[in-house]
Amino acid sequence: MSNNHPQGPIGIFDSGVGGLTIARAVRALMPYEDILYFGDTLHLPYGEKSPDAIRRYSDAIARFLLKNEAKCILIACNSASANAFHHLKNNFPEVLFINVIDPVVDYVRQKDYASVGVIGTKATISSNAYQKRLNGVSKQVIAKATPLLAAMIEEGFTDGDVAESVITAYLGNDHVSHSDALILGCTHYPLISEKIQNIVDDHCEIIDGPGIIATFTKDQLEARKLMAARQKPGTIRMYVSDHTPSFARLASLFFGDNLDLKEQNLAYDPLG
Ligand code: DGL
Repeated sequence: MSNNHPQGPIGIFDSGVGGLTIARAVRALMPYEDILYFGDTLHLPYGEKSPDAIRRYSDAIARFLLKNEAKCILIACNSASANAFHHLKNNFPEVLFINVIDPVVDYVRQKDYASVGVIGTKATISSNAYQKRLNGVSKQVIAKATPLLAAMIEEGFTDGDVAESVITAYLGNDHVSHSDALILGCTHYPLISEKIQNIVDDHCEIIDGPGIIATFTKDQLEARKLMAARQKPGTIRMYVSDHTPSFARLASLFFGDNLDLKEQNLAYDPLG
């Protein structure tokens, strides 16, 4: 089967559990699609890595997903979307890549927010990917790196005092919390969105990234006639580069106990 066959799986990747928030939304919207997920747990957090390292990891993962017949690749990681999207498109020009930044910026463009906040990893915020795209879309854009959050979530601290203290330390009474809308610019953050909502101003809308991104993906597949013609639920296969209990726990919480989850080592070539 080639890589643009409608029956092929939707390839999805992230550094770890964050992309599961996107995979879950994709599953809810397109239950008949097969999903092939890669969590690069060996290298997380991506947010602390250099753009070159993120490109190298993303490249190896894309090769793996394509070898397994992915019909498109959803980069379910903002750090990789910000730093590796163009690199991947150049390296694999025939492949449909979807990043998690553009669909959310398109959503904001349709709204009339006077101010938009964005929080994300250091790799995402320092790439200026959101700031550049939102320039002219909203009068005020406030961006803040919140580096501890992804590692905290990956460790399973999504509730309780630890999560609350760290979120408050970053967002309590910060400018970003007073904006009209807040972009969770890291796919891990929807796992703590309720806690974030409790801390930001009441009028601040937390944008539903996973829902928007899943809808965008469906539109792209439909436009290219790549939706699977299947009348039964699609399969879900997951791979991680390092088996971690927290990944296994969250993956089965989202997708059930009989999940097909395997460890897979990839060759991470230096960038040519
Ligand atoms: N979930 C990822 C993101 O959206 C990566 C978090 C990390 O590994 O630092 O940026």
